Amino acid sequence: MKQEQAPLRGRFITCEGIDGAGKSSHIAAISAFLRQRGRSVVSTREPGGTPLGEKLRSLLLHEAMHLETEALLMFAARREHIACLIEPALARGDWVVCDRFSDATYAYQSGGRGLDPEKFAQLERWVHPLLQPDLSLLFDLPAAVAAGRIAGQARTRDRFEQERLDFHERVRLAYLERARLAPRRITVIDADQSPEKVGRQLEEAIARFCS
Ligand code: TYD
Repeated sequence: MKQEQAPLRGRFITCEGIDGAGKSSHIAAISAFLRQRGRSVVSTREPGGTPLGEKLRSLLLHEAMHLETEALLMFAARREHIACLIEPALARGDWVVCDRFSDATYAYQSGGRGLDPEKFAQLERWVHPLLQPDLSLLFDLPAAVAAGRIAGQARTRDRFEQERLDFHERVRLAYLERARLAPRRITVIDADQSPEKVGRQLEEAIARFCS
């Protein structure tokens, strides 16, 4: 008798944290580490990840808008990203490494801007009722330390990076609250450390997840 094959499914890993937490520089290393372990990896980002999503990203990062418009556009970009990239990749058995996902909307739009958390929850249920990351790595550090790192970079700041310190402190607290509510999914990485030490924490977290 023919055995039923379990459907192939990859794993969904997200990276989160306040601006200046240093996650972008570690994402390539995370993908390389997974590839060394034989995984086929798709690396992507939010807002963005699709041609339409990248257009929405430039609006979101540079145009002033109402906070609910901002939340709706984040989720519109996400809907497209899930349909066109994330779900097809997971269905092929690929591992998806995504720079930010819905935890960022909770942290920035609800925590930072004050969007009603119930509206966030409604959007999350609507856009991805069944999909959640298998692992989320939260790069955590005080907002003042992150601001100091950004101040040292010679480039123009987007709308979020231009926000005041108290905004980023609220974003950080909302991320930590989310981590407290989902401790099995979200691993907090102490990002107030040298890149080498942060890299070691990441390797340990991913090795644990893969085993
Ligand atoms: P970011 O990962 O910081 O891009 P880069 O490393 O190129 O600066 O993401 C862009 C910004 O978008 C970041 O400041 C956080 C914000 N953002 C939200 O406010 N809500 C969201 O849901 C997402 C995905 C991002």
